[in-house]
Amino acid sequence: MTKKITTQDHLAEVQASFDEQQNPRLVEILRSAVKHLYAFVEETKLTREEWMTGVEFLTATGQKCDDVRQEFILLSDTLGVSMLVEMLNQMPSDVATDPTVFGPFYVPGAPEMAMGSSIAREGNDGEPLVFSGTVRDAAGKALEHARLDVWQVAPNGLYDVQDPASPPFSYRGVFETGPDGHFEILTSRPVDYLIPTDGPVGQMLAATGRLAWRPAHTHFMVTRPGFKTLITHAFDADSPHLSSDAVFGVRESLIIDMNGGTAVFDLVLDVTEE
Ligand code: BEZ
Ligand code: FE
Repeated sequence: MTKKITTQDHLAEVQASFDEQQNPRLVEILRSAVKHLYAFVEETKLTREEWMTGVEFLTATGQKCDDVRQEFILLSDTLGVSMLVEMLNQMPSDVATDPTVFGPFYVPGAPEMAMGSSIAREGNDGEPLVFSGTVRDAAGKALEHARLDVWQVAPNGLYDVQDPASPPFSYRGVFETGPDGHFEILTSRPVDYLIPTDGPVGQMLAATGRLAWRPAHTHFMVTRPGFKTLITHAFDADSPHLSSDAVFGVRESLIIDMNGGTAVFDLVLDVTEE
């Protein structure tokens, strides 16, 4: 009698088909990916129809992407995978600022701005807010030449790239610290906003009873030679959605008071590992 091929045999055959002489890291990733994918299919006893529904969902996710819309990042964000990748890759020391998700709305090439200037391109139609703080190393020394790439939604709850009426680089700017490590950025108080729900990710959220809100925040990406890049947000302590963030990015240490027109957000960077 011929031996029946088990699902374990099948997995082993597929894993062995990847030639590790080609690209060892790629092969490691693919072998692990098929192992976990097969375990998921077996654990859920996935039917053929359910698998096709998944394939159609992923196809629609790709079809929703264009130059400014990245539905796959949104899917990764709403499944908590983006946050997991940041947690594992940024891994701050005990004193360094906590990281959070990057999100799909970063635009490279924002204008370099003088300290104290406003990132609101057309007036400042929200509640005016001055962000200030100091960038330091883990020992408390102020860091000169730290570059802060800052971005947030406009008071209408949309990023510039989502709003045809918005001037380019609205609510975006790059600032560089001086010898005292201090920064000061004029903006509007960020507002809670809905992540895009007109695509497959929105359907997934609706089908599972989840909210699409992000709690009000301002994004910071801080770079400095010799230090790990920090990708984080400052969250408004008054947001009603801090405990139901659609992308699981809130960390208690990143929640700050934004009342009274000022917000203080001190930042601590870890040195690069040799
Ligand atoms: C953001 O904060 O810009 C964002 C993050 C994840 C998904 C959507 C938006
Ligand atoms: Fe955001």
